[in-house]
Amino acid sequence: MTAQFPVKWPLGIDVLRSQLAAIADDRLFAYQQPFIDKLGPSFTLDMLGATGYTTMDPMNLEAMLSTRFEDFGMGFRRQALLPFIGEGIFVQDSTAWKHSRELLRRPFLKNHYQDLKGFGEHVESLIAGLSSSSGVVDLQPFFFRFTLATTTALIFGQSVNDLEEAQQTFAKDFNYASMISTLRMRLQDFYWAYNPSRYRAACSGVKEFANVFVKQALQEKNRTGPNSDRYAFIQDLYDEMQDPVLVRDQLVNVLLAGRDTTACLLSWTFFLLVRHTSALDRLRSEIRSIMGDERELTRTHVQKMSYLKYVLNETLRLYPSVPINFRIAQKTTWLPRGGGSDGNAPVLVRRGGGVGFLAYYLHRRKDLYGDDAHEFRPERWEGPELANIGWGYIPFHGGPRLCLGKDFALMEASCAVVRIIQTFPNIRLPPDYPVVPTGQEKQTLTVFLSSADGCKVLLD
Ligand code: HEM
Repeated sequence: MTAQFPVKWPLGIDVLRSQLAAIADDRLFAYQQPFIDKLGPSFTLDMLGATGYTTMDPMNLEAMLSTRFEDFGMGFRRQALLPFIGEGIFVQDSTAWKHSRELLRRPFLKNHYQDLKGFGEHVESLIAGLSSSSGVVDLQPFFFRFTLATTTALIFGQSVNDLEEAQQTFAKDFNYASMISTLRMRLQDFYWAYNPSRYRAACSGVKEFANVFVKQALQEKNRTGPNSDRYAFIQDLYDEMQDPVLVRDQLVNVLLAGRDTTACLLSWTFFLLVRHTSALDRLRSEIRSIMGDERELTRTHVQKMSYLKYVLNETLRLYPSVPINFRIAQKTTWLPRGGGSDGNAPVLVRRGGGVGFLAYYLHRRKDLYGDDAHEFRPERWEGPELANIGWGYIPFHGGPRLCLGKDFALMEASCAVVRIIQTFPNIRLPPDYPVVPTGQEKQTLTVFLSSADGCKVLLD
């Protein structure tokens, strides 16, 4: 029989209460780790009148995200997020999703970040901001600002950081709407019960802000001359969709997908590096030997930086930006493993049944990654050790819905890491700052996973 998460009160209210308390204490994953260790890779949880199935089994993940992809959809994610991000790729299924995917794939392929020059000015503003800071610096807010700039430059044709005041209101609205949307998703089918007026106002604020760019882009359509391709992302979408509201919604979807994810990756990368000085030393030497005095990073440089790739892989393993996710069965279907007396039989998933999957715990499974699974060791990516890890490593998920911004994110993060280490070779953990085993630090969990204490460093 499939293992069951222990529940004491009706509707699993005791578990929900403990989870909410652990979230408020910024320790949800640490709190749940012992339960997960005991239950194994797949288990059920009865909560709020529904039985949810949770899996961290690579075989099931492959089935759900790839081979039986068509059987699963986004379910209540759609309704919970609709007021915030509208009708876009992130909440769609089936034909509508396929159409959005095809539309969004094209501007990604032809965009100017391909030669990494598009990141240049934003990386330099990040470096300038850090250079003018002194004492203990928290890198995390800088990274959120940086990725807001790069993602809005990609989609709006203009970085919102150029628009100081509007940017602040927009960032506030966006953060608030994203926080409440996460709570709504946690309520699953009861998402509608939480719809405060401030949430509605923040969602309208985000949309109005995005509307301005769509309008500008459409006004500039068919103009020629310098900068005429500035709004290419919006104009390409409009050519296909012919509806400014739908274009706007897709932009907000990409912004949600692209901003916090990469900011979290950067923040955890430095959080780990300053606590693991031998990894930082090795990365610094690699950067020096490949870049010399060069300041402008190219794809050729990045391809040669194998240790940088291991560091980013290892960071995303321990702290996947999207640590929890779920799918809802669109028809009665099955997953290959997790049922029967020994957990090796297939599992039936009825139409409407939810399947949660937890990249966070999957990436820390000792049977997949070894006894040091909780330790930061970029070298594990070096040899054949993880050559067959396959669906045991899913920071960008996989299959038809693989993250569309994977390359953008990894290039953006590489540019920032290299320039920061070049400019601040002495970057280090401030004295007396705690070093605790990974996973034991405070974590903030929205849809994304960030460090609750930020990423404090000394730069000089
Ligand atoms: C480290 C950075 C990033 C990580 C770890 C990441 C991770 C993910 C994951 C796990 C998904 C699948 C979500 C799901 O199916 O439920 C996803 C989807 C997506 N990501 Fe990313 N992402 C990152 C950065 C970006 C960036 C920078 C962009 C765009 C600028 C982006 C755009 C998208 C889009 C459009 C989707 C939806 C794809 C679809 O449904 O077909 N992501 N991402």
